[in-house]
Amino acid sequence: MKVSVVGQGYVGLVTAAGAAEWGHEVSGVERLDERLTALLAGRVPFHEPALGELVETHLANGRLRFTADGPSAAARSSLTFVAVGTVNGDQHWETNTIRACLAEVVPHIPDDGAVVVRSTCPPDFIAELPAFVDELRAAAGREPIAVMLNPEFTKEGTAVQDFLEPDRVVIGVAADPDGRGTALLREFYGQVEAPVLVLSAMDAILAKLGANLFLATKISFANELAALCDLYGSQIERVIEGMAHDPRIGGSFLRAGIGFGGSCLPHQVTMTVREAAALGHDTPLLAAVDGINLRQKVTFVERIDDLVGGVAGRRVALLGLTFKPHTDDLRAAPALEIASMLIERGATVVAFDPMETARRNAKAQVPGLLVVSSALEAVTEADVIGLTTEWPEFATLPWAQLAGVVRGRIVVDGRNALDPETLVEAGFVYSSFGRGHRVPAGQEIEPAAHVARRRERVGIPVGAELVVGDV
Ligand code: UDX
Repeated sequence: MKVSVVGQGYVGLVTAAGAAEWGHEVSGVERLDERLTALLAGRVPFHEPALGELVETHLANGRLRFTADGPSAAARSSLTFVAVGTVNGDQHWETNTIRACLAEVVPHIPDDGAVVVRSTCPPDFIAELPAFVDELRAAAGREPIAVMLNPEFTKEGTAVQDFLEPDRVVIGVAADPDGRGTALLREFYGQVEAPVLVLSAMDAILAKLGANLFLATKISFANELAALCDLYGSQIERVIEGMAHDPRIGGSFLRAGIGFGGSCLPHQVTMTVREAAALGHDTPLLAAVDGINLRQKVTFVERIDDLVGGVAGRRVALLGLTFKPHTDDLRAAPALEIASMLIERGATVVAFDPMETARRNAKAQVPGLLVVSSALEAVTEADVIGLTTEWPEFATLPWAQLAGVVRGRIVVDGRNALDPETLVEAGFVYSSFGRGHRVPAGQEIEPAAHVARRRERVGIPVGAELVVGDV
């Protein structure tokens, strides 16, 4: 099939390259000069595993081309996907960009073609979408076309695989009187074995939002449970294991830590709460999910503060800047907010991330943040180390050697990603989210003050959660 994908960001480029992999003839439309130049040279302008190989292969065989000319690309295509940003930098929906893109391409789509919105959009925009597209067609003196939605469920870091082997395909019908749009999308996904679900446009967008809201809820639930584990001296992973065998519960997406970041989960929770409130509707569960996610970052900062006896004037090493491993994306990355909070409290924050682009961009985004080019450099002379992204290489750092270069042997593991035994054996105090608080044999340290206060309230002796390293 001949298809166009307008917007070559994380979603659009994966869609374009994946479609070429399926044998479709794809035009990727990109307006930003810098990004287009990179793509034309076969360079992917962000880090996404396996994407570079697909782009290179299909640029070479001619199935994938890049252009700034949206109208010509749309005129040649039976399906024109639109995958542009819909959120502004301030956690508000922003539909001006998608409206402008639609205005540019919709008049040129063939009468037997379809426009497919792949961006995640606010429900009120979806309600207006068919009339908006109809008006654009009428103004251009053209027949109406099918107006479809096709939300994506890809995760950064595994987006190519998620696209090529989805667990479901959701097609949303905004306007498709003769079923042509649905048929075209079914043909587009012809090689996919997963169920293809055809829903109304509003059901499709709420399925997309609902999926992310549920994932966010699971993470905040795990974080609440982890706080209970710390309160009662229990181990979160063991607890989750004890729950997960129940097929109604399952064990995925229940990793506790400093909370969820990224381009989707945080702002979709916040905006859903806010937009519903504007319509006079309460969403108390989602409000709590949002609140817990913020609390995790504050708890992390307070724990560091407690363990070093006040961070002002202290040197804090942060390991990891990206919102999760295997991406260079810093959008709503917990590490950045944590760094800002620590700097505000007077700490010197020295961070390292394996992604060079993330290091560069983080420095520009967080005033006062020092960014270095190795983990060793970050932890040298540090009073405390905070793990903020679970890059696999951090788990295998030579911790015994690092114990010799730090000023304070304290690690706060914000992702529960390090092995407590290894850390304690190397001489570090180890603090986590729901795995207790461990100290090396012979050392005495008061538990973090906030844990102590909570334990006093429920009558558990202060200090009882300390697990001595070699016992
Ligand atoms: C998410 C959805 O998973 C995906 O389906 C949707 O299409 C886009 O949004 P993404 O933002 O790439 O994908 O990342 P995801 O893997 O969902 O992680 C989001 C955040 O949650 C990360 O900061 C991650 O560290 C955190 N997380 C994830 C946890 O804190 N605990 C978990 O158990 C899982």
